[in-house]
Amino acid sequence: MIENSTFRCDALVVFGVSGDLARKMILPALYALCQQDRLTVPVMGVALEDWSDAQLIDRAREAVSEHVTTPDGTAMERLEGLLHYVSGDYAQARTFEKLAETLKGCKHPLFYLAIPPSMFATVAQGLDAAGIAKGARLMVEKPFGHDLKSAVALGALLRGYFPDEEIYRIDHYLGKEAVQNLLYFRFANSFLEPLWNRTHVESVQITMAEDFGIKGRGRFYDGVGCLRDVVENHMLNAILLLAIELPASQAPEDLTDAKVQLLKTIRPLTRANIVRGQFEGYQQEPGVKAGSDVETFAAVRLHIDSWRWQGVPFYLRAGKELPVHVTEIVVRFRQPPVAIFDKTPKDGHNYVRFRITPRLEIGIGARRKQPGDAMLGEPVELTAIEETSTDVAPYERLIRDALAGRPGLFTRQDAVELAWRIFDPVLDPVEAPERYTSGSWGPEAALETFVPPGDWINPSA
Ligand code: BG6
Repeated sequence: MIENSTFRCDALVVFGVSGDLARKMILPALYALCQQDRLTVPVMGVALEDWSDAQLIDRAREAVSEHVTTPDGTAMERLEGLLHYVSGDYAQARTFEKLAETLKGCKHPLFYLAIPPSMFATVAQGLDAAGIAKGARLMVEKPFGHDLKSAVALGALLRGYFPDEEIYRIDHYLGKEAVQNLLYFRFANSFLEPLWNRTHVESVQITMAEDFGIKGRGRFYDGVGCLRDVVENHMLNAILLLAIELPASQAPEDLTDAKVQLLKTIRPLTRANIVRGQFEGYQQEPGVKAGSDVETFAAVRLHIDSWRWQGVPFYLRAGKELPVHVTEIVVRFRQPPVAIFDKTPKDGHNYVRFRITPRLEIGIGARRKQPGDAMLGEPVELTAIEETSTDVAPYERLIRDALAGRPGLFTRQDAVELAWRIFDPVLDPVEAPERYTSGSWGPEAALETFVPPGDWINPSA
């Protein structure tokens, strides 16, 4: 049972502070929190590099200037005043002894593991052996395990050192304004509810298209692939918010219970419900094994065996090197049963569209009569929301919540395991993925018969 934790953390320790994630996401988020006056605790960065505090500060300055054209001097100074560096090998007890000395006086540190999952166990053991795991909170980056078996083992291992309610599992999609709006928009508007079921919804599709490749992350990506990287977590989490029943309240426990109930009704995938692709040139990327069969594109069809969703296919499609950078969900309604006006097109003109990336949009698709004598129609989209000016970046929101002890945007272990249960049967490919050219919508031949009713909707930027 996850309750709101009782304590606020008095230090933040970032393992992997010299890495890519820290540079791109964590350090800019810490700066933003300083700017909002929301970060006042000391921040210890840990990594193998033989850096000084000053070198960590330099890295933070670089990271911030890559994000903000003119950084706010006061906020930057505030961040610099909080930063400390501890260098060391995670396999050596000395690293954790040094960290314990730096943490003297802190009772409730937040340990943030922004490191490869293969090192989680070593670090958790190191923290425990140095006596600093007690009273602390742990925050871990996805993927939580590699499959169901390893996720169960990882959960058990971490629970050996930290109580379950103090383990915060990050899926940064849950920190996105647009993803939070999926839940809000659904349940704050009563007009949707009568339509939100198998009687009226024909299909749901979500596309996570990225118009870039693996950006030098070959070593990481080749051990993971598209399904594990984004489908099993980010995309599934978005679908859950779209499809769950109304939670008893907005308490984290109730929301997670509603997700768990839905997860239990999603049928484990079979090979007939997945298409994999790999962009041409992937195997030449640094860090990728020669002859790699890892997919950079995946399309899956999920079936939900619930009263509300039985028979409604949920299509999820994600890929690197696609034509645009957009993540979007479209809920398509059934055609009018009888067409007395012009022939209604098959492409599902009645829909609700949620755009998640690059900006929040919610649109409602309809048809209206064209001006003139004839009863001829044309598609129109009513815009419910376009972007919000007060958006909080996901990592700001998640780090802030983890420090404060608000678990609502983090994933519970039972939900993690149920998600793996769905994907487990198809994780190991039996055949090589189909090749596709960069800038296309994936492996065309393989997708020919793998199409949502009314076709895929290829979003434009
Ligand atoms: C990460 C994946 O978790 O999410 C990346 O590892 C992916 O491969 C990224 O590009 C997408 O996140 P966002 O927020 O840019 O849509």
